[in-house]
Amino acid sequence: MIIAIDGTTASGKGTIAKRLAAHYGLPHMDTGRLYRAVGVAAMKQGVPLDEAGPLSDIARMLDLSDFIEHELRSAEAGKAASVVAAIPSVRQALFELQRAFATREGGALLDGRDIGTVIAPDADVKLWVDADVPQRGERRWKELIGHGEDVTLDQVIEQLKIRDARDQGRTDAPAAMADDAILIDTTDLTIEAAVERAMAAVEAALAKG
Ligand code: DC
Repeated sequence: MIIAIDGTTASGKGTIAKRLAAHYGLPHMDTGRLYRAVGVAAMKQGVPLDEAGPLSDIARMLDLSDFIEHELRSAEAGKAASVVAAIPSVRQALFELQRAFATREGGALLDGRDIGTVIAPDADVKLWVDADVPQRGERRWKELIGHGEDVTLDQVIEQLKIRDARDQGRTDAPAAMADDAILIDTTDLTIEAAVERAMAAVEAALAKG
């Protein structure tokens, strides 16, 4: 069984993905971490975020054990990820890794932006997780403040809008809801309720076959 979970930044898709993977006993790949790692490695090596050649070399040789979680979760890493993710050769360099994970024996759950549309269009269940911008902004702001970052709510909301526009506006594999995906709107839901809603959607999709 392949479960594809896509959605917007700070929509709750990461939490839903972790919980569903644990529930169904599926290996989980958070594909945003790949793009974050490319962005962070580029910044460390002083590679400009618009140089397709060196960036795709970094993507091809990516070793996730080189990174600590904290550096991948920063606001700067998220922004860099979104910038490098718009480069087709970077996406191409990360494609096989994700495709191999998605098609492994025993199934898998992947979360990202293009899982249901590009990486695993054949997934058994596809979810698109979203929430309105003020709600997502507040969640992301609290998370960043919790990590000791010095940002205002307005700045976070502004960055979120820029990120949405970049992710959804790129020409190669834009972040998009697949035609056959189920929408989970988490705006008015607690984490528990959002996970329950997602799980019910997966059950319904599996029952339908
Ligand atoms: O899910 P995240 O916030 O960790 O993702 C960071 C960025 O990576 C996001 O703004 C867009 C990009 N991304 C992508 O283009 N495709 C994916 N499958 C996952 C993430």
